[in-house]
Amino acid sequence: MYPTSAINRRAQVPKTTGAGTAGEPLALPNPQVQELEDELKVTRMGTLHALTMMLDIKDVKTGRHATRVAEWAVRVAERMGLDDEELRDLEIASILHDIGKVGIPDAILLKPGRLTDSEMRLVKRHPEFGWAMLRSIPGFERVSLQVLHHHERFDGGGYPSGLAGEAIPLGARIVAVVDTFDAMMSNRPYRRGLGVSEILDRLEPEQDAQFDGEILRLFLDIAGEHVGEVGQIRGPSL
Ligand SMILES: [Fe+2]
Repeated sequence: MYPTSAINRRAQVPKTTGAGTAGEPLALPNPQVQELEDELKVTRMGTLHALTMMLDIKDVKTGRHATRVAEWAVRVAERMGLDDEELRDLEIASILHDIGKVGIPDAILLKPGRLTDSEMRLVKRHPEFGWAMLRSIPGFERVSLQVLHHHERFDGGGYPSGLAGEAIPLGARIVAVVDTFDAMMSNRPYRRGLGVSEILDRLEPEQDAQFDGEILRLFLDIAGEHVGEVGQIRGPSL
């Protein structure tokens, strides 16, 4: 299932070398550097695969939700003009944003009723748990920070750090928007998912409150265009 179809689309675009322009040196790839980069890529994809399998085993719905969040996030980021490396990190962070929930007991995570205050406090620690899991993996440094801050609010009222505005990593601000949208669309044991227009109406007043207004406005445009396609994603399965 991974990477997202957005990443696959970009991978199909042949890259230009920049060579051939008059007076410009021919940039030949160093075979050893290329080999190391390829090895790192394989290691990164293997790590990502192992972690997403763990997400699936823990709760399939979380894995499917994560796949749609990644698809939305990459589409927003592409529209914002982020470079390939930033897109790659954002895609991984989107897939793994709730991985810290493996540290929350099922009795709490799947509890049908209302959570107690202490249960809620524990659930709210999942960004920290995710960061702690990912931060020491080579190549996941930026990803781990995006995971850590995906529940911050643009106005500073979120958690775990209470960061505000652009102090919140850009990737985390994107995930915050698309994660909320997809969660509202999804069916829950206690309610049916909301319709797109109702969700968009509810999100709009959150510009520069819960969410970065620029990202939210961009997403509202994209969501209207692509909801049929992304909504069909059923995500990875075992
Ligand atoms: Fe989360």
